[in-house]
Amino acid sequence: MNVRKVAMIGCGFVGSASCFALMQSGLFSEMVLIDANREKAEGEALDISHGLPFASPMQIYAGDYDDIIDAAIIIISAGAGQKPGETRLDLVKKNVGIFQSILPEIAKRNVQGILLVVANPVDILTYVAQKMSGLPENRVFGSGTVLDTARLQYMLGQHLAVDPRNVDAMIIGEHGDSEIAAWSCVRVSGVPLNDFCEMRGHFQHEQAMHEIAENVKNSAYEIIEKKKATYYGIAMSVKRICEAIIRDEKSVLPVSSAMHGEYGLNDVTLSMPAIVGKDGIETLVPMELDEKEQTELQHSSVVLKDVIKQAYQA
Ligand SMILES: NC(=O)c1ccc[n+]([C@@H]2O[C@H](COP(=O)([O-])OP(=O)(O)OC[C@H]3O[C@@H](n4cnc5c(N)ncnc54)[C@H](O)[C@@H]3O)[C@@H](O)[C@H]2O)c1
Repeated sequence: MNVRKVAMIGCGFVGSASCFALMQSGLFSEMVLIDANREKAEGEALDISHGLPFASPMQIYAGDYDDIIDAAIIIISAGAGQKPGETRLDLVKKNVGIFQSILPEIAKRNVQGILLVVANPVDILTYVAQKMSGLPENRVFGSGTVLDTARLQYMLGQHLAVDPRNVDAMIIGEHGDSEIAAWSCVRVSGVPLNDFCEMRGHFQHEQAMHEIAENVKNSAYEIIEKKKATYYGIAMSVKRICEAIIRDEKSVLPVSSAMHGEYGLNDVTLSMPAIVGKDGIETLVPMELDEKEQTELQHSSVVLKDVIKQAYQA
């Protein structure tokens, strides 16, 4: 395996923006772009590679599935977006279908790398990838709520006029409508959230938390309405996850992974904090959720299981 090689399957808005972020990161010396539309992959590879004189040398090219064999990380961002008049469930079925065409290509190549799912619905597609890829579970996970968590940190940082990197906060559960802001665990540089808010002149805690959580949840809808797709935030999230893997950082990230009794959840894939390093997910980090958050997490799991039942037969 080449620890300096990454493969991107799907080179639309999300795939190409992620490749652009990865090119600038200096993490890799080789990057292969794969897309059902070969010309699209070729065009993106050319365009991104023309930035190389301003970054670090690497090989960037359009390829096919044989090129993923020695990649340390294989990212899947291939998937259709929602069309007008199409239900969410129709979209799920369509993207599960796309995954059912991609995963056998990965399974038959005995890859040693890590599979990172980014396409939506990311929790459902991660579940499908775990069932079909033939890879051990620790090496198959989804970007989950890493992006939603970044949005929460950013918005809390704005609200409190503080560096978002000092905001220790997480969105957990589904990457979608049933996601949960785990308020009971939030600290700002070690200070409980309400105390920090009051220090910054904010006293309407319930209302502010509700508004911020709603804004985080609705971010994607708002951006899609205004510019058709979201891709820069997810591109940085993909870069962050790759960094944790390649540098074996053992970073705690809310990636989407399989639950085996944790929080009373089973046979479902959703985001809870996990330690991420060179072997993928090392272990989950137990969060101390309050009663309301625990109930919401159970609800998120029920929502996801229902979709899995309707859209995927093993
Ligand atoms: N996880 C997240 O936080 C997050 C954030 C934003 C978007 N997304 C998701 O990422 C996915 C991609 O979004 P986008 O805006 O890039 O869409 P897009 O339509 O721009 O790109 C999708 C690409 O996938 C390719 N593709 C389709 N079927 C394929 C196949 N079988 N093999 C290889 N390539 C194939 C298409 O040719 C296209 O280039 C969507 O599912 C979107 O919802 C996830």
